[in-house]
Order: sequence, then structure tokens, then C-alpha cells
Amino acid sequence: MPTAVWRSLPLLGNERLDAQHRFLQGAVQQLAEDVQAKRSAEHLEASLALISQRTVEHFHTEEELLKASGDPDRFLHADLHRELILQVRRIQYATAKGDPLREAVACFLGDWFEEHVQKVDLERGAYLRER
Ligand SMILES: [Fe+2]
Ligand SMILES: [Fe+2]
Repeated sequence: MPTAVWRSLPLLGNERLDAQHRFLQGAVQQLAEDVQAKRSAEHLEASLALISQRTVEHFHTEEELLKASGDPDRFLHADLHRELILQVRRIQYATAKGDPLREAVACFLGDWFEEHVQKVDLERGAYLRER
């Protein structure tokens, strides 16, 4: 079974975005622990629904800030966000149909957030600070 590795996310220097990143990483970490602890399907689905909702809110916040700053790369960035939302929706659809939520899902989400924050958000955070 894959084991998630949780590293602390780099800070962007924007309090709101950093707080949202922290919340999402914590929620995904909790999801992985809940899967390992074999919590009920209802509990896991509710946790995933919260992660999904807060991810959409976070992406919206980030995209609005980048739009306000005139970031020319914001459309590409928003495409990456949309791809993840589609993946999360697919996972939610599968769990709603009765597929068990596996730890690999939490690992995938954790890895996605870590890579996205490190490789994409961090660069845009520097752009936001310069405006
Ligand atoms: Fe982002
Ligand atoms: Fe982000």
C-alpha cells in the first residue's frame, strides 16, 4: 500500500493562499489517516466532499488574485486547476457508486497539491508579491 509523504508546503507570502494551502494539505493528510483507520465510507465521502469544496474555493481565490494582478499565465494555471477538479469529481462519482476510497487517492491528492504549490503556485506567488 502506498504511503503518503507529507512535507511542509513552501509559503507564497500571501496569508490567505498560504492558509488555504495549509488547510487543504491537513485535510488530505487526515483523509489518508482515515482511510488507513478504515473509517466508514460515509465519513470518507464527507471528507472528500469538504476537500472538493474547499479546493474549488481556493482555486477561485487564487485565480481572482492572479487576474487582478494581470498575470499573463493565469489561463494556463486555471486549466491545471480545472483538471484536478475533474479528477476529484471522478473520484467522488466512483465512491458514490460504491468503489472504496483507497489510500492511493489521498496520496494522489497530496502529491498533486505538493507539486502544484512547489512548481506553479510558488512562481505565481513571486509574481503577486512584485505587483
Ligand atoms: Fe494554483
Ligand atoms: Fe494554490
